[in-house]
Amino acid sequence: MWPRKLLFFITGLLLGWGVLRDLAPAAALANGLALTPPMGWNSWYAFGCKPTEELIQQQVHALIRLGLRGAGYDTVIVDDCWAADRDSQGHITANANFGSGIPVLAAYLHKNRFKLGLYSSRGMRTCMDFTGSEDYEALDAQTFADWGVDYVKYDNCPYTQDGIDIERRYKAMRDGILATGRPMIFSISMWEFQGWQPETGHLSRTMGDIQDTWASNLEHFLRNSAYAAYAHPGYWNDPDVLHLGGGMTTNEYRTTFSLWALSAAPLIISANLYGLPDGTLKILRDKDVIAIDQDPLGVQAVQIGNSGPGKTVWSKQLSTGEYAVGLLNEEDETSADISFDGGMLGLGSYEVRDVWAKRKMGTYSGVYTASVKPHGIVLLRITPR
Ligand code: GLA
Repeated sequence: MWPRKLLFFITGLLLGWGVLRDLAPAAALANGLALTPPMGWNSWYAFGCKPTEELIQQQVHALIRLGLRGAGYDTVIVDDCWAADRDSQGHITANANFGSGIPVLAAYLHKNRFKLGLYSSRGMRTCMDFTGSEDYEALDAQTFADWGVDYVKYDNCPYTQDGIDIERRYKAMRDGILATGRPMIFSISMWEFQGWQPETGHLSRTMGDIQDTWASNLEHFLRNSAYAAYAHPGYWNDPDVLHLGGGMTTNEYRTTFSLWALSAAPLIISANLYGLPDGTLKILRDKDVIAIDQDPLGVQAVQIGNSGPGKTVWSKQLSTGEYAVGLLNEEDETSADISFDGGMLGLGSYEVRDVWAKRKMGTYSGVYTASVKPHGIVLLRITPR
């Protein structure tokens, strides 16, 4: 009798362990980082495949001098094209454009109160055909940690449709990062949302590459909004960088920036800062809009109503008990009256502040209507009374 009972007991234990193991969530990247959406600067749309240490240093001067560091843009990300081949021990190395070495760049950034972001890819080669991290995930994570890297952007090249392998590769880099013990943010650039990403990275791209056009920015905002439920301190949906090359009007840049703030999106400027007009810089430095993006509650806006097709109302709950509300007009040519109704949020009377106009608009109950320019937004801060 006893041996049989023992057999049952052991089988039961094994089964129980199997069930528990299957139910347990995979190791998450809950290392206390990115409790608000990351802010910074990225080299890709500034210098394409030719970032150099001199160019990065010049951008650092600009970030400081233009008041962008002070506004919170504190992470400088070197995107693709910095790497060279591996050395004889398999360590990834930097190419001649970073002749002083990445540790020197990291020290320079840290001295100036910035963090360093560095790019790699889950395949053998990056999107621009430089060395990638496949099969070297743990070693590269350790190298990045030893160099003083604070943020890893991890791309999805060379392209493959093998979804399972992609997940495994991203998780290998996540585990590599965790194993180093160095606090590093992990930015997934996989160009679409998948359910494993929130437990794997601190931010994840929800679409392909953004273009410097209104249509592209609107499309990225709308797609990104589909995953709002997943956003929380420690994980953010990433509609891609702030692409500021002059392809949009100041009004459109203002709208885009407002939509990114409502989305609790990472605010990563990707442009040569020396070419940015004052109007754009003013938008990027707006404290009230940045505060909406960086609100510690970490909620991503959802659509709560509309005043007709393309005239939508968006709301993001804030930690203060207030709401950021966006009245968005997608129309190409005509202004539109768009209404927020307090009932949409179960509110009685409420105070309205126009965030860009920096004006208190009064106390309302029921409906508040504003005229919104084509491709424009009216961004409100709503305080329940
Ligand atoms: C992909 C990414 C971009 C950029 C380039 C660099 O296209 O989505 O953000 O990093 O690669 O090659």
